[in-house]
Amino acid sequence: PIDTGFKSKRQIAGQFRGINVWGPLDAPGQLGIWGTNVCVDFDICVADGACIEACPVNVYEWLETPGHPASEKKAFMAREKDCIFCLACENVCPPQAIKIFQK
Ligand code: SF4
Ligand code: F3S
Repeated sequence: PIDTGFKSKRQIAGQFRGINVWGPLDAPGQLGIWGTNVCVDFDICVADGACIEACPVNVYEWLETPGHPASEKKAFMAREKDCIFCLACENVCPPQAIKIFQK
């Protein structure tokens, strides 16, 4: 599962379309944890897609990640600011790659 304490251990290594990316980063094999409130560990995500189906406000969309060992697409929190903190995505992700922070 995602390390829920990652914010005290990792640093923001970059941004993609306004979304923070927490390192370490070594693309394409190591992609880090993405997001600030809606956080997905891209190195754990296996592209199950349950999060995308579950979200009532369409926060996520697929992002192609060719060459990543766990999966070649990831749940990208494109509309992170729309999150209503229902936790549906966090609860349905099989590998527990998601952590929601209300603040
Ligand atoms: Fe969507 Fe709810 Fe997950 Fe927020 S917590 S991204 S609203 S499913
Ligand atoms: Fe990935 Fe989990 Fe969603 S595996 S696609 S974050 S349900």
